[in-house]
Amino acid sequence: MNIGVISGDGIGPEVVREAKKVLDACSEKYGFEINYTDIMMGGCSIDKYGVPLTDEAIEAAKKSDAVLMGSIGGNTATSPWYKLPADKRPEAGLLKIRKALNLFANLRPSVLYNELKDACPLRKETADKGFDMIIMRELTGGLYFGERYTKEINGVNTAVDTLTYSEEEIRRAAKKAFEIASKRRKKVTSVDKANVLDSSRLWRRITEEVARDYPDVTLEHMLVDNAAMQLVKDPAQFDVIFTENMFGDILSDEAAQITGSIGMLSSASLNDTKFGLYEPSGGSAPDIAGKNIANPIATILSAAMMLKFTFDMDDVASRIEDAVKQVLKEGYRTVDIMSEGMKQVSTGEMGSLIADRV
Ligand code: IPM
Ligand code: MG
Repeated sequence: MNIGVISGDGIGPEVVREAKKVLDACSEKYGFEINYTDIMMGGCSIDKYGVPLTDEAIEAAKKSDAVLMGSIGGNTATSPWYKLPADKRPEAGLLKIRKALNLFANLRPSVLYNELKDACPLRKETADKGFDMIIMRELTGGLYFGERYTKEINGVNTAVDTLTYSEEEIRRAAKKAFEIASKRRKKVTSVDKANVLDSSRLWRRITEEVARDYPDVTLEHMLVDNAAMQLVKDPAQFDVIFTENMFGDILSDEAAQITGSIGMLSSASLNDTKFGLYEPSGGSAPDIAGKNIANPIATILSAAMMLKFTFDMDDVASRIEDAVKQVLKEGYRTVDIMSEGMKQVSTGEMGSLIADRV
């Protein structure tokens, strides 16, 4: 396996180190070989090369079978990276690599673990029902990639961002959403703002067309404001949420928070090949960087997604997922998911506990 590794900034290097620890334990136990190639992206690349992502870094990512990533970026109020023009900041590197590798499908699972129900901020009745959904966010179109500018119009500063979707972009993403749903509980909730936006009306029409090819999957439509509400009211109703780039960005943070900690959630960004970029859903958390207290589980579970989606090693991926559940059952917690009577451990200890149990 040729794995590109983007450790990045903030807690990135710490959590990636633990994911590699778990992968290495798997490689030893189940007999496969891994070559890691370090790839610079984000603030660390700005410090070294003046840009958040070099062409060489993109080439290295393209040569890998998959990329495992930590997180990028720093404190937007205090870091000098945020004095740079927008296209030179750490986040620009992430947007650029997604586009360069055509990673149009972003999967963000949101699962409430039985052991972590106490950390769930929802009503007890709602938490007791549990939930297990995947948000499939379109990742290379829409508002984040449309034309944008700020200029004076009639003497008034005016900013413009454009939200564009072609039917092709919607179709390829919709297919992915239905394929994923057909392997799960067979329900797609397509989230849009079709009561206002043209792009959403096209989204609805194309999604309905694609749905005809998947007769065993139920499609429902939901407006994004309602979806935000339903996520805290009755998250158990969702199986696969399929939505455009910005709605998915926002809803996936909400879906993460209702599990109790964003430190638990993995993600995969996929294109039409077996390649994928795998990263935790959370950010670089600069306030706790270097303290060995960050939760590495999201990154470890992202490595499991990598084994599943890129390498078709579902068995080994399940071993990792089971090891995570086992460690939680034994009462080990990083500080973000700590509750009374549990044993608090560091980032490194959590990684080792999981690696020992694969
Ligand atoms: C995410 C992040 C990024 C995004 C930022 C860092 C550009 O919030 O992966 O959700 O909005 O896509
Ligand atoms: Mg986000």
